Amino acid sequence: MIKYPDRIPLASLPTPFKKLEKFTVPNFDGTIWIKHDELTGTEVSGNKVRKLEFSIAHALKEGCNTLITCGGIQSNHCRATAVIGAKLGLKVHLILRGQKPELIEGNLLLDLLAGAEISYLPQKDWSGHEAFAASLQEEYRGRGDKAHFIPTGASDEIGIWGYIAAWEELTKDFNDNGVDPEYVVVATGSGGTQAGLLVGAQIQKAKSKIVAFNVCDDSNYFEDKIKTDVSLWKQRYKTEFDETALNIKTLEGYMGPAYGEAEEIVFKTIANLAKVEGVFLDPVYTGKAFHGMVSELSLGDRGRLQGAKNIVFIHTGGLFGVFPQHKNFQFD
Ligand SMILES: Cc1ncc(COP(=O)(O)O)c(C=O)c1O
Repeated sequence: MIKYPDRIPLASLPTPFKKLEKFTVPNFDGTIWIKHDELTGTEVSGNKVRKLEFSIAHALKEGCNTLITCGGIQSNHCRATAVIGAKLGLKVHLILRGQKPELIEGNLLLDLLAGAEISYLPQKDWSGHEAFAASLQEEYRGRGDKAHFIPTGASDEIGIWGYIAAWEELTKDFNDNGVDPEYVVVATGSGGTQAGLLVGAQIQKAKSKIVAFNVCDDSNYFEDKIKTDVSLWKQRYKTEFDETALNIKTLEGYMGPAYGEAEEIVFKTIANLAKVEGVFLDPVYTGKAFHGMVSELSLGDRGRLQGAKNIVFIHTGGLFGVFPQHKNFQFD
């Protein structure tokens, strides 16, 4: 029995678990299942909400009235935090990486509509974003507020609980549908979703391998990040857990030109899945991971997803990130 810390209900759970009925992959005759975490809400949709249930519960317990967090200009995590702040009556201050864009769109538009305060920090100064956050916390303290800092993507020893809990939900999905998937696939960006799934699966002694496709950094980065977060989680919650047994598999090769920039094939894959199944991916995270999964499956036994009969794709959301990249879709 897992003993969870404080949690506030923010996500619409459980999310649906369904197979793709019409989408086909060459050389693959198994089944692709989708865990629809893009449906954790509408404006607070995606994977981040599961983590924020724990991160924000922690902030409230500490008596905070303000949330500070950070990410890219089109961060889904920042948007989710901004919206939840509005719902709970908390002030939200976002530190966004880059210059203020001329066009306010996608997630950024929603951040502003939800009333978040925004500081733009140029890429060249980004290594100092945590120090900047600390200075903001000081400023808020001076005004009689108490601000909690949530790191990028809520990927830390608190946010990790979100996908430990999600694994319990997945276990029920698998049982209800009579499947024991060989692989569970996810996009990884700040590592917290991957970390939570890995810990959850290990606690439940699941046979499925967790396979992540990185949209930034490389496999060594995720290996270190996950081990660090899991160790901190163990210390903070005084949990018995063997982190040396973690089977961290981050498959490189599908990041494309850079974080936030995708190759044409990713846009084609997004359009194809939307047309065939009515499921919408995004070009920053889920589109790249889904394209990676399909590419590896189509290689059959030469691919890195050999032996897959049932494979689960965790759809982590990101829809609002489609709109700022609309020019990359080709229509006849
Ligand atoms: C839509 C979407 N998918 C996947 C991820 C990756 O999750 P994580 O940051 O936990 O690695 C993110 C956030 O970074 C995201 O916004």
